[in-house]
Amino acid sequence: MSTTQAVTTETARDERRTILSARDIVVEYRTAKGAPVRAVRGVDLDLLKGETLGVVGESGCGKSSLGKSLVQLPPPTSGEVLLDGDPLTGLSERRLRPLRRRIQLVFQDPISSLNPRRTALEIVADPLRLMGDRDPRAGALAALEDVGVDERMADRRPHELSGGQCQRISIARAVVQNPEVLICDEPVSALDVSVQAAVLNLLEKMKAEHHLSMIFISHDLAVVKNISDRVAVMYLGKICEIAPATDLYARPLHHYTTLLLDSIPNPGAERKPRRARNEISRKAPTEGCPFASRCPAATELCRTTEPELVEMEPGHLVACHHPVV
Ligand SMILES: Nc1ncnc2c1ncn2[C@@H]1O[C@H](COP(=O)(O)OP(=O)(O)O)[C@@H](O)[C@H]1O
Ligand SMILES: [Mg+2]
Repeated sequence: MSTTQAVTTETARDERRTILSARDIVVEYRTAKGAPVRAVRGVDLDLLKGETLGVVGESGCGKSSLGKSLVQLPPPTSGEVLLDGDPLTGLSERRLRPLRRRIQLVFQDPISSLNPRRTALEIVADPLRLMGDRDPRAGALAALEDVGVDERMADRRPHELSGGQCQRISIARAVVQNPEVLICDEPVSALDVSVQAAVLNLLEKMKAEHHLSMIFISHDLAVVKNISDRVAVMYLGKICEIAPATDLYARPLHHYTTLLLDSIPNPGAERKPRRARNEISRKAPTEGCPFASRCPAATELCRTTEPELVEMEPGHLVACHHPVV
């Protein structure tokens, strides 16, 4: 076998490797009164090396809770997270600390997620300093240039910068730590439509140049579509469908996915106000399919027995007793 062939085969094998694996993740919030809120109700996820996995669902379905539990901020109530085989769950903060660098989170609101008292340069240099970098200032300036933040902005604080610039700084702060996995939680939802595409392009560039694997969370299926290799759809704390992006958009199997797809505005048509129809926050019923009360295909079976996530086609899993035909 020629060297080129060997390298290609090696790369292909490497790309199928699971870099992040989550098993039976449950996130519960204790409330002052009443039963705890179950935001995530048993999620399994495998992120392959080099892929972008989109996670989509309406507001309140548990996307952020899931994302935060993967990076252990805070750890899930129960379940297991492995990063390239190394457990992140069940560790003390002291044992977790050296692993934190390897999985980074970019938040929705760029301005409030940055320390208001630190300059752009300091925000990116701080993690480099903690990592023992010999010249954090030079490293931070190079990282800022890499994300398209002009050197003249380096001494400004977050409130003196635009949302787009702050999100670029958040991305620089994450990527400068040389992580294996980047989790982006609605990274463009708070930005003006005019800068969303530029930040999405930047994420794709950083992913390619820094060999990242990415989980991309959004309530907006249209945004997730272009950036994801596979897409997981969440409904009330569970994954109801997961598939390669092209399959999910061409032939959705869950009635909730169909509903989400129908709500994507047509190109050229006037955009519907974002979030308007996504604002729901309800509790999952104690039995049956959580979507049954909204589902056009629901039967008595759906109201009594919760469907399991099963593989209907290669790589295409759905949790539905009566999938879309
Ligand atoms: N810190 C918290 N304390 C109590 N409930 C919370 C907390 N964070 C989120 N929740 C609840 O958990 C559910 C899932 O929230 P979240 O993960 O933020 O969803 P999403 O990111 O999909 O909008 C919602 O019902 C929300 O109100
Ligand atoms: Mg959220």
